[in-house]
Amino acid sequence: MQAAKRSIGIGIIGLGTVGGGVAQLLLTHRADYVSAYGIDIDVRRGCALDIGMARAAGLPDDRFTPDWHDVVTDPTVDIVVELIGGEHPATEIYEAAFAAGKHVVTANKALLGRHVERLAKLAHDAGVQIKCEAAAAGGIPVVNALEHTLVGNKILTIAGILNGTTNYILSRMASEGADYADVLADAQRLGYAEADPSADVDGFDAASKTAIMASIGFHTRVTTDEVYQQGIRQVSAEDIAVAADMGYTIKLLGIARMTAAGVEARVHPTMIPNGHQLAAVSGAMNAVYVVGDAVGETMFYGAGAGRFPTASAVVGDIFSLAEPMSRGEDPLPEIEPFGAVVPVLPIEELSNRFYVRLRILDRVGALAPVVDAFAQAGISISQINQLEVGEDGACSVVFITHEAREADMTAACQELEKLDAVRSVANVIRIEDTSKWLEGAMEN
Ligand code: HSE
Repeated sequence: MQAAKRSIGIGIIGLGTVGGGVAQLLLTHRADYVSAYGIDIDVRRGCALDIGMARAAGLPDDRFTPDWHDVVTDPTVDIVVELIGGEHPATEIYEAAFAAGKHVVTANKALLGRHVERLAKLAHDAGVQIKCEAAAAGGIPVVNALEHTLVGNKILTIAGILNGTTNYILSRMASEGADYADVLADAQRLGYAEADPSADVDGFDAASKTAIMASIGFHTRVTTDEVYQQGIRQVSAEDIAVAADMGYTIKLLGIARMTAAGVEARVHPTMIPNGHQLAAVSGAMNAVYVVGDAVGETMFYGAGAGRFPTASAVVGDIFSLAEPMSRGEDPLPEIEPFGAVVPVLPIEELSNRFYVRLRILDRVGALAPVVDAFAQAGISISQINQLEVGEDGACSVVFITHEAREADMTAACQELEKLDAVRSVANVIRIEDTSKWLEGAMEN
């Protein structure tokens, strides 16, 4: 057995699902880590509102505090692990930790997605690091891949199923033909979806993760607010069935691409070919597909949430800091911010093929003005499919377009809404040309 060279002190702020899991993992595996790596990871402080949370995680009472300041100011704590989420007091915790010369490990996607530039600069200036593997896709080690093992590449595309709640809902809708509202209610009852599901179903959670990964992968700064966000509330069982008939699967994807014109960053329901690797990712699982110019396609799959998967990512970050510290060396200071900011392209400037489902009155001449509205917007139609007439005398008609500009599609929808025969523009879903994701890869 290799002797521990040094004991590294950990302070965990937040002992809920993830924080409690981190404490439990570190406590139960402590001797194994000493044996395998020669590093003693010692949880010296745990902070939560209630001592019961510390006890549930196995932390001795004398290591518990209800005040996060006690963790940050404890001279035996080398690494502060922030797992409370939200912007405050997380921001103050980071600032105090940096001022005390301590590294921060976090899963806080909401905070980093919005404020990483300022926080990273503070960390850099203090000579410490922010580590955030758990903030991007829970247990999936994709941040480490982007920061380390893929550094020889120019990263071209990051496209992922980054939210387990929405993937669970869409997967069940697809397999059962069930409606969104019914599956959401069931998912809430089973604990897969939050009582207030908006951060998940409206795309904010996936947008934060997209922003973090795009920033790291492309060496630039993308904030959550710059990521176009559209959630899954509009997706119906009918959309999923029609897409399936056409050979497509509908997934909520976070897509970031580095193009000659700028960075694309968007979260929205996306039709991808059934044969694509991401189409096979079902249930609450996550996956991140990364294309590097040298490596080509890579795919990372795993649990994007949950107590121990997320704790696994946090402990990985703790070790990446603890390893040099155990040798008496300081980990390198934070390397972000990168200094060069590549603009994020407005969604209006992007182009896609589109699936457009209209509710139209089933009567003579109803389609002519609809087709004309697409033509007036400069949008070419490649396919029209009329579905069964409903009890209200309206039918769904699905239009598949050739590649069209987002701005033109918005204009077309505004005109379509005005037509007498059109009850509603029921849904517009982007059809992704996944071959574009490989543009710029080197020939083998
Ligand atoms: N709520 C997220 C999900 C996990 O459903 O995947 C935390 O980001």
